[in-house]
Amino acid sequence: SGRYFGTAVAASKLGDSTYVGILNREFDMVTAENEMKMDATEPNQNQFSYGNADRIVNQARGQGKRIRGHALAWHSQQPGWMQNMSGTALRNAMLNHVTQVATYYRGKIYAWDVVNEAYADGSGGGRRDSNLQRTGNDWIEAAFRAARTADPGAKLCYNDYNTDNWSHAKTQGVYRMVQDFKARGVPIDCVGFQAHFNSGNPVPSNYHTTLQNFANLGVDVQITELDIEGSGSSQAQQYQGVVQACLAVTRCTGITVWGIRDTDSWRASGTPLLFDG
Ligand code: XIL
Repeated sequence: SGRYFGTAVAASKLGDSTYVGILNREFDMVTAENEMKMDATEPNQNQFSYGNADRIVNQARGQGKRIRGHALAWHSQQPGWMQNMSGTALRNAMLNHVTQVATYYRGKIYAWDVVNEAYADGSGGGRRDSNLQRTGNDWIEAAFRAARTADPGAKLCYNDYNTDNWSHAKTQGVYRMVQDFKARGVPIDCVGFQAHFNSGNPVPSNYHTTLQNFANLGVDVQITELDIEGSGSSQAQQYQGVVQACLAVTRCTGITVWGIRDTDSWRASGTPLLFDG
């Protein structure tokens, strides 16, 4: 069908037979919840660590599932050595990280979240301040070019949250960046919508419009970290709304939920997932 249904997976749970049973039965795509992030894969500068990520990759590949890589460059969950870096040293360290990790996994990743959460919340529609942003506004396109060189077969995605509502400034800011990248030939193939919803941030009624407008720029769109806090028919209807919005867009190529059971969730108290404990 060209559309895939994924979940975030934690390496620490691969010994739980209930968890693995649901994983193997229900999904055809996986994302490492934390194990491919910068702090996990490069804990010391130029010393790479892939043990836990490889456990997830090997389990998924053994079951014939595709893998979304998450994430090559992000202001959060950076290793300690990177957090205090700046300028050219940080830019080069970031590009080296992108190159090394994408090269290590070359041929095994369906789509990479090359850059995660680089836009600010609020009404400005601009970039988030971070150590990476302070290396220069071109840090995002530099990361995408490095990723393309390292793994030409992977789809390269920009991933963010609170970009679901078409009328929000943050959504418009990301849209203009993707439009600019396509116009200038910066290699970008997809946009990920994290889709972490709750009562204060419900699924917007214009979600289909958002997904279609991005797809019309010539990129795939993917729901990448879906969870919806709540219960009962209200929660079910919001899940239905997200799925229908994706299915209505030809280039919406995947939905990934951010964990399997409510008890596996980073927001467990909100019972946001499809399976109970
Ligand atoms: C979360 C994980 O689920 C937690 O286990 C971890 O403690 C923090 O990160 N946006 C992202 C994800 O892109 O990587 C985050 O995952 C959730 C928000």
